[in-house]
Amino acid sequence: NNSILTDDFGRKHNYLRISLLEKCNLRCSYCMPADGIVLSPKESLMTADEIYSIAQLFVTNGVDKIRLTGGEPLLRKDFPDIITKLASLQTEISITTNGILIDKHIAVLKQSKVTKINLSLDTLIASKFYSITLRNQFEKVIANLHLLLNNDFKVKVNVVLIKGFNENEIIDFIKLTKYLPLSIRFIEFMPFAGNDWDRSKMVSQVEILNQVRHNFTELDVQKLEDEENFTAREFKIKGYLGTFGIISSITNPFCDGCNRIRLTANGKIKNCLFSNSETDLLTSFRNEENLEELISFAIKNKKKVRAGMDTFDDVNNPILNQDNRSMIAIGG
Ligand code: GTP
Ligand code: 5AD
Ligand code: SF4
Repeated sequence: NNSILTDDFGRKHNYLRISLLEKCNLRCSYCMPADGIVLSPKESLMTADEIYSIAQLFVTNGVDKIRLTGGEPLLRKDFPDIITKLASLQTEISITTNGILIDKHIAVLKQSKVTKINLSLDTLIASKFYSITLRNQFEKVIANLHLLLNNDFKVKVNVVLIKGFNENEIIDFIKLTKYLPLSIRFIEFMPFAGNDWDRSKMVSQVEILNQVRHNFTELDVQKLEDEENFTAREFKIKGYLGTFGIISSITNPFCDGCNRIRLTANGKIKNCLFSNSETDLLTSFRNEENLEELISFAIKNKKKVRAGMDTFDDVNNPILNQDNRSMIAIGG
């Protein structure tokens, strides 16, 4: 029974994304403002036990997929404790990470029920990696990507495309899938507080597909069937081991099938990535109040498309699109 997780459009929210913290060991400009963010005080972040109890409540109500995000989730000192506790719930668990700490946690990850890991990597060139992340961790991330593959994790690579920065690497990324069983996902750059988004910096789905058509023959590019509740529309080059996809939140949203609900590190529900109206679950949890009512309220308030920004022009309109958190404090 997941009725409190069903919204007015009939969408069942069985996928909970939990952000574990607001800090990161990289400084990607599309995610974290250059002058940083005001961090939530430590006591307002969910503890491992609180994460477990709140996740358990969601699972009881129908959630069967949990993704841990951040900031960088593997930076949480109690990450092993969190992942071990969550393992007892009847749910799939996966992680979205920048990959830097994978080797440190590989043993606990192998013992855990995590089998799929999404890794952020925006370039295949070390100097460009530094210019987007302000850290020299390219080799580490690449080594950890291979470590994951060698340990049979299913890996998806998230590539945020930015005009003039990495759209000339689209084909190189796709070629990686020839011999590696990866799913590469090209993501349209999205606007969040402090990331200087501008429509001219975005590489759109149409532009990505134009490059693909230019570099591969029509017969070689296979469109795969959309998965239920997809974020990425998936493709495959004939004969390649891996696949690639496009996450087109801006030019071609996929909100009809949205099954995602978010819990920020300080325990607020976000019913949409683009919604700035949040529901404080953690305070009520600490006061032993009825959380089901709050969750139901948050879900019922969800808009049909992008928190009410129905069109591309709406996203581009600073009056409609304002005051959302920075991505680092949402978790994607
Ligand atoms: P899978 O479960 O492996 O399909 O991954 P995912 O796409 O749900 O999660 P991931 O954390 O890898 O996110 C990849 C990109 O998709 C990020 O840029 C996210 O911000 C974006 N994304 C994830 N969920 C949503 C969503 O509900 N709405 C929008 N607009 N974008 C999303
Ligand atoms: N636009 C699109 N995707 C973003 N991500 C972070 N910030 C943005 C943004 N502004 C992606 C990262 C990460 C995922 C969780 O969200 O690539 O893999
Ligand atoms: Fe769901 Fe909002 Fe993303 Fe649309 S923009 S898919 S409604 S989270």
